[in-house]
Amino acid sequence: MTVQEKLGQIQQLTWTGDTGPGGGQTEQTEAAARAGLLGSVLNIHGARSSNSLQRIAVEESRLGIPLLFGLDVIHGFWTAFPIPLAQASSFDPEVARLDAEVSAKEARSEGVRWTFSPMMDVTHEPRWGRIAESCGEDPYLSAAFAVAKVQGYQGPADGSELSRTDRIAACAKHFVAYGGAEGGRDYNTVDVSEQRLRNLYLPPFKAAVDAGVATVMAAFNTIGGVPAHGNAHTMNSVLKEEWGFKGFVVSDYTGVEELIAHGFAEDGADAGRLALNSGLDMEMVSTNVADHGEALLSDGQITMERLDDAVTRILQLKFDLGLFDNPYSGESAAVAEPTAAARAASRASAARSMVLLRNEGSVLPLSPAAGSIAVVGPFADSTRLHGTWAGPGASRFPSVGILDAVREAAPGAKVTHAGQDLTLAVAAAAAAEVTVVVVGEDPGLSGEAAVRSDIGLPAGQEELIAAVAATGKPFVVVLVNGRPLVLGDWVDSAPAVLEVWHPGIEAGHAVADVLFGAVAPGGKLPVTFPRAVGQIPLYYNHESTGRPYNPAKPEEKFVSKYLDLADGPRFPFGYGLSYTTFAVSRPQLSRESIARDALERGETVEVSLTVTNTGEQAGDEVVQLYVHDVAAGIAQPVRRLRGFERVTLEPGRSTTVSFRLGAQDLGFWTNDPAGTFIVERGRIDVYTGTSSTTRDCSPLTVV
Ligand code: GLC
Repeated sequence: MTVQEKLGQIQQLTWTGDTGPGGGQTEQTEAAARAGLLGSVLNIHGARSSNSLQRIAVEESRLGIPLLFGLDVIHGFWTAFPIPLAQASSFDPEVARLDAEVSAKEARSEGVRWTFSPMMDVTHEPRWGRIAESCGEDPYLSAAFAVAKVQGYQGPADGSELSRTDRIAACAKHFVAYGGAEGGRDYNTVDVSEQRLRNLYLPPFKAAVDAGVATVMAAFNTIGGVPAHGNAHTMNSVLKEEWGFKGFVVSDYTGVEELIAHGFAEDGADAGRLALNSGLDMEMVSTNVADHGEALLSDGQITMERLDDAVTRILQLKFDLGLFDNPYSGESAAVAEPTAAARAASRASAARSMVLLRNEGSVLPLSPAAGSIAVVGPFADSTRLHGTWAGPGASRFPSVGILDAVREAAPGAKVTHAGQDLTLAVAAAAAAEVTVVVVGEDPGLSGEAAVRSDIGLPAGQEELIAAVAATGKPFVVVLVNGRPLVLGDWVDSAPAVLEVWHPGIEAGHAVADVLFGAVAPGGKLPVTFPRAVGQIPLYYNHESTGRPYNPAKPEEKFVSKYLDLADGPRFPFGYGLSYTTFAVSRPQLSRESIARDALERGETVEVSLTVTNTGEQAGDEVVQLYVHDVAAGIAQPVRRLRGFERVTLEPGRSTTVSFRLGAQDLGFWTNDPAGTFIVERGRIDVYTGTSSTTRDCSPLTVV
């Protein structure tokens, strides 16, 4: 390969119709492909159009190296699954695997070989719109979902299935700590300690690398003043040297160019040099490395060795994908629309991801034999509830409306509809046996660059709820949203509240399945719902502080609290109700103490407990395991999730759930930039229960 061909291989350009800053580089893209000066193209799909561009690269360029086509297939291609934050609420990683498997089949058949997914940014920031794409505030849960998605897209960690026509390469993003943006403002400053970087933000990426993720995408933010796109500590030292990552790192959209705006690079040449030397391997849309690479090489600012390493990583994935043997997609094999099976998978995933926040007086489940049901609110009949980053299917295949689905589920009922008009909604509610009030956020209010400074229900919606409540008739509030919301005090008196997030293409059917009890709600919150935006950041895995608030002594002044607000969240991490009730026994440990070196040899402690369905209906419960190292060289969070299992039980039935705790569960990373993980001697409290607020605890002593 000539130097120019090598520089071309590490360049990715975009395609027609892309509305981003570099959108519509079609002519430039085709010319570069023809000249053999292009490695990858994003935002192209369709077997026919991708094949025609591929033919230019393979048949007209000197070396005929195939292009790698990438696209954001985040939670669906044709078949939109629930948003990732919803999927995390299922506390069942199989939901994420199913999304990835269906999406990979559909995308691969339409020429896509690489998705910029899973996004695995842990975040404590509900104002940040990209929390919708995340799995919430906990690294352990996020890691479990990241692994399931990588495996669903790629197959086993050894990459042996990557060339199959139902697999695509995955991308762990955004590397790293993007979710720590100050103020929740997208792209904003992140300044975290090494221990928080390693204990909170890095674990999902390490898990994804261990699962064989093919690529990693750099994040837009700085980390301690050093932009992620020029951060040798995170990309070279941690990702490539410490973890041995053999795939390649792609920039985010014009992320290399943005090193100039960050005040980190002087100009394009400086940006290209800094990015490449810090461990970045492919530049997306901006062209600094390609434009300045030859000059940088000749005056020794970058080395041929580094350039060859980047090119090798990219070519290796192309070989693993089978692109050299099979660069084209079979146009007759294209999956042109959601299949019934794909829709059923999305519908089941969405129902499994819903969280019952309140159900007083058993308003839910609704009866299919109800005489009259009113469905009101701004989203009652919306067919755009796919969610942010929903893939090409969202613009072609409307989501099923809640109103239509309620009519299908209760064919004998008189089902009336009103939007947000108070008079009409109140009249409908007054005339009906029960009312479903559908409120929340338009999907455009979450996702990238969609940050809200106030995360309450948008204007007029609380008035609607109050007006329906004033009729005195039973009602259910259904929340469609892409982030935690600040819910007013109405939530303490609403008969029933169901969190459904943005449920994807089968939205209405999944909501009706849960409202009418065809599917029992069993999800749990993967994020904290604060009482007020002024509390943010508020999260379950927080440090104790030296003066923790004591709920038994609310009058205590000199403790960590607000003068003007009750302590704690409206709804905590791990919380969710069911149509039945469960009893969970205290955790039984297989041993009360364990030697530190036994842990380091791989020995574990078993934690077991019994769950019983003490109600009248079948249902799901998510048993959660948390640890708290009560005295450590780095003050530890009061709870760290270290296990979860969703169980389904018939009324009266019990089951035993057991977990294993090893060194990796009990230890923590220190502030050592070279990476030191330690398990300290002393007491570690082991909690089990059905929410992060559980107090059922058994002490374990590390000796
Ligand atoms: C966007 C996002 C990133 C996405 C990329 C390509 O700006 O930050 O998640 O994969 O550009 O669309």
